[in-house]
Amino acid sequence: MEALQIDPNSEIHDVVGNLSGAITSMRLYPDQHPQVQKYVETAHFELTKFLLAKEETTLLLVNDRVVCDQRPLPDMGPHFAQFIRTLREAAIERVTFLAGITKGELQDFLRDLIAADQESVRSRDHIKLGKIDIRVDFGDVDALDGPLSAEQQEQIAALNTLCRARLEDIKEIYDKIARQQTFSSKGLGEVVDTFARAFAHGVSPIRMLASLKSADEYTFTHVVNVCILTMSQAESLGFRGDKLYEIGMASALHDAGKLLIPEEILSKPGTLTPEERSIMESHTVRGARYILSLSGVPKLSVLAALEHHLRFDGSGYPHITERWRPNIISQMLAISDVFDAMRSRRCYKEPKPLAQIIDVLESEKGTSFNPFLVDNFLRLIKG
Ligand SMILES: [Fe+2]
Ligand SMILES: [Fe+2]
Repeated sequence: MEALQIDPNSEIHDVVGNLSGAITSMRLYPDQHPQVQKYVETAHFELTKFLLAKEETTLLLVNDRVVCDQRPLPDMGPHFAQFIRTLREAAIERVTFLAGITKGELQDFLRDLIAADQESVRSRDHIKLGKIDIRVDFGDVDALDGPLSAEQQEQIAALNTLCRARLEDIKEIYDKIARQQTFSSKGLGEVVDTFARAFAHGVSPIRMLASLKSADEYTFTHVVNVCILTMSQAESLGFRGDKLYEIGMASALHDAGKLLIPEEILSKPGTLTPEERSIMESHTVRGARYILSLSGVPKLSVLAALEHHLRFDGSGYPHITERWRPNIISQMLAISDVFDAMRSRRCYKEPKPLAQIIDVLESEKGTSFNPFLVDNFLRLIKG
């Protein structure tokens, strides 16, 4: 175990030490103060030196430890403790520094980090931030449409409790990675399986999830969120029992094909080339084919994987036939999918405010989305 850890005298120690020093001086003095300049310059120099050999480095917070590029760092004293505290206060659980980072970028990032307003901390060209976040956040709903009813509050509380429990499971898995313990993809499978059961009382394992270990955390959390959102839509429309379980399975598997798409395309910031786009879009057909090859998975999952990017008006992808329209579950899934994508913080994209997301859904009623399902969905999230 000890042999796998990074030497406390290593360069990353200097990097974090200097970042922490810069944070301390920035808390005391304005940006132009010579001491701030000196610390930021040194931190930038050490970071650039560290990045020379590796292009990028990721620091991940797991409980009270820092994991650097998949390797846990030993406790490195008060500097580390302060750095961890500062990231935690800004609700950041992962930060990736990329080669090419400028001193200005670093200084702005550190300034945002110590500002009281969490929302101001954002990713930059050479600094990517992430959170392990699977909460479905209904926080700003009150401001939009009056207070929630007692029943809705209860539902949301139940969802949040469930989400928190799952969040703990995910943290445990990350913790295992941090401690260099073998973790099996079975753990992730169990998380989603438990989730599906909570809604649908189903018992079958989700066999496909064996592949989840190779996906990034976004794919996983996205799938969990889409599962919650689609199952709650279905439940509100009267689906129960086995049917609801099938819908949960279909939701959990809708992006299965993404696990078959190269990572560099999946998480490429910015616009995809036409060729990359068509590979990306093939996750629908690939996913459907993959699910078809599994035994014991309801066939609705095949259809949902195939159709979830088809629009209500028949456009979208993949093109099947002129008159093909997605089935009702795929139509629900499409709403959950877009909602979660807009709500999520990615390393290269900030989340949209809820009001803006609602506007998008409203404005695409009848084109992208089934108008009745949008109304129902908005009722569910607004109360
Ligand atoms: Fe998709
Ligand atoms: Fe999706």
